[in-house]
Amino acid sequence: MYPTDRPRRLRTDGVSPLVSESSLAASDLVAPVFVDATTDERVPIESMPGHERVPVDEAVARVEEIRRTGVEAVILFGIPETKDATGSRAYAEDGVVQRAIRRISAETDAYVIGDVCLCEYTDHGHCGVVEESAESDPTLTVKNDETLELLAETAVSQADAGADMVAPSAMTDGQVRAIREALDDAGHEGVALMSYAAKYESAFYGPFRDAADGAPAFGDRRHYQMDPANRREALREARLDAEEGADVLMVKPGLPYLDVVSDLRREFDRPIAAYNVSGEYAMLHAAAENGWLDLEATAHESLLSLKRAGADLIVTYFAEDLGDRL
Ligand code: PBG
Repeated sequence: MYPTDRPRRLRTDGVSPLVSESSLAASDLVAPVFVDATTDERVPIESMPGHERVPVDEAVARVEEIRRTGVEAVILFGIPETKDATGSRAYAEDGVVQRAIRRISAETDAYVIGDVCLCEYTDHGHCGVVEESAESDPTLTVKNDETLELLAETAVSQADAGADMVAPSAMTDGQVRAIREALDDAGHEGVALMSYAAKYESAFYGPFRDAADGAPAFGDRRHYQMDPANRREALREARLDAEEGADVLMVKPGLPYLDVVSDLRREFDRPIAAYNVSGEYAMLHAAAENGWLDLEATAHESLLSLKRAGADLIVTYFAEDLGDRL
């Protein structure tokens, strides 16, 4: 018997755009930018082909390159001149990210997001203040409540510099409330907050840790980032962040966690973001370099999958490349 229902009828060039369920536009994308206080030239990031750490003097030029591709939003990460136990260069008024934000927001129309975390700024590489004896006993943890104040200070200093949005990524319990209150107290009610709500302890961050020099010197992040085995827990994390005042809820990484993106989309009425992380970028590049995959096609399909799963916006190292083509 022949089929009466033929899905193929809707797969012609004429009709398929009409019935397409998801789409990808440059306006969905956020491009990461690394500003580095230790260099006065652009330094290529080896594990992330096409990306560089740029000095503050090059930050505006870097953002303008991105904007020429149609991508209007950037998220800034900093490599400080010095590191210490409490990550004090993360919340210094003249910190590398604060200086870059000041320039970018004064000289461009980009939408500027500040990543709020301490791991690039602490000498031990953890995302907060650690117990004194943590080095000898890595089972000891990052001190949650002592870290809150420093994250709040970091966010306020970025907002003071002109950030449009702050994005706490430290997975410290209560960080969204602490930051929202501190921003409001400082007169920054208009600064938006995107929380890395479901951030997993993932091996896909490897290239980023090279790029931003933020690998933990001892121990790991399992006591504050989420266990990759857990799905329900992401709803709990997201609910807490929504209650605490997050405007946008992010899932990170992206592709290995499409179920989580989809869950959050269904459960919440807030915009959902996905972070297509450094490892997701690096693996496609490595395969393409070997001639095993078509880079442009697989990058596009990856981001489209995140949209299909329910992401409204995507932080991705492919932003510039795809922005150009979209
Ligand atoms: C800071 C932070 C990390 C990433 C974004 N913000 C590193 C980490 O948690 O280890 C990773 C981004 C990527 O891999 O692209 N906490």
